[in-house]
Amino acid sequence: MKICIIGTGYVGLVSGACFADLGNLVWCVDNNEEKIELLNNGEVPFFEPGLEELVNKNFSSNRLKFTSNLKLAVSNSDIIFICVGTPTSKKSHSADLSNVFQVASKITKHINKFKIIVTKSTVPVTTGDKIEQLISKKKRKGLFEVISNPEFLREGEAIRDFRFPDRIIIGSNNKKVTKKLRSLYDPLIKKGAEFFSTNRRGAELIKYAANAFLATKISYINELANLCEKTGVNIEDVSLGIGSDKRIGSRFLRAGPAYGGSCFPKDTRAVTVTGDLFKTDLSIIKSVIKSNEKRRILLTERVKKILSNKIKNKKIAFLGVTFKPNTDDMRESSSLLMIPFLLKRGAIISYYDPSGEKKEFSKLINLSFCHNVYDACKNVDLVIIHTEWEEFKALDFKKLYKKKKFKIYDMRNLYSAEVMKKKGFKYYSIGR
Ligand code: UGA
Repeated sequence: MKICIIGTGYVGLVSGACFADLGNLVWCVDNNEEKIELLNNGEVPFFEPGLEELVNKNFSSNRLKFTSNLKLAVSNSDIIFICVGTPTSKKSHSADLSNVFQVASKITKHINKFKIIVTKSTVPVTTGDKIEQLISKKKRKGLFEVISNPEFLREGEAIRDFRFPDRIIIGSNNKKVTKKLRSLYDPLIKKGAEFFSTNRRGAELIKYAANAFLATKISYINELANLCEKTGVNIEDVSLGIGSDKRIGSRFLRAGPAYGGSCFPKDTRAVTVTGDLFKTDLSIIKSVIKSNEKRRILLTERVKKILSNKIKNKKIAFLGVTFKPNTDDMRESSSLLMIPFLLKRGAIISYYDPSGEKKEFSKLINLSFCHNVYDACKNVDLVIIHTEWEEFKALDFKKLYKKKKFKIYDMRNLYSAEVMKKKGFKYYSIGR
């Protein structure tokens, strides 16, 4: 099939490369010409395991093309995926849809024959209706169909999630179009992905419902971890104990820092705005948002406590600062609050992250980036394991200890508390 993908962020670029790999002809469009130039030179503008190889493989075989020329891409495609960002609006907690509507109105000009326009961007329920109204002003009904096909891939696991999704959801009010989209996804359905179709609004809401539910699971286990710390119970036993009940499910029950990233925080906020708009109080999701905000502060307070409330001139190492491993993404990472908070109170911080130095921290004083774990941990009072990168999972603390014994705050429970204590380390973790 001939496909046009608009927006070359995580969702757009991964979907484009994976659709091309399934044998389709894919045009990826972005109005950022620098990004297009990079991609045409074989470079991927962000870090995602395996993506550069996949992009280059399909680029070389001419199935994947990059351009800033929307007209060229739209007029040569049958299916157009809108994959632009929908960040939190600057004025409120709602999703900023300006990119989506801008793209929709630009596409309109180039609709020369029947086109299926698909929103893959996460958009509030009724956005598809608005896109349809917008295009209808210039093009007759029957020349296009607007549908929703939310994406559920995770950063860091994006290619695998695209290739082996649990489910594919198409939201469309037109059966013929649903069938066409189903045939695009046929290779994935044959490998075991469930296919589910609903109306357009249904698919839009499913995306938010999924993210808000996962965020709820995480906040739920995080709050229980607080209780475990006070009652001498191991949170991992609780996760196992409840997760083995199939009605609950074991995934997304890992306690840790506040959840972050470009999706859960923004989508939980946006869906409560939609709820308010439709006079429906999504009180559970609202309290999840509050609980997550509190968690950032709570864990920072815990750091203070571990250092006996004396932060001034204390040397702290952060291992990992991204919101999760296998990504260079810093959006809504709890380290963005913790590090400045501790610096303000006089701490001297070194950090190491396998995805490199962070521009978000470039203006902070008394903060330095180190190129490896060993340099970051030299002469520190406290080591904080903030992100669960593979290389932090089997550290030789005895070797790291050589010059000075430090405390360890493992925010991802990478080590056994019992073993660490037996070995004589001053070890603190989450919910145990
Ligand atoms: C999330 C969803 O998992 C994807 O299904 C969805 O497609 C995506 O948002 C999106 O809407 O585009 P992502 O933000 O990439 O994906 O990352 P996750 O792996 O879900 O992690 C989000 C946050 O939850 C991270 O801060 C992570 O550390 C935290 N988390 C996750 C936990 O604290 N505990 C867990 O058990 C799982």
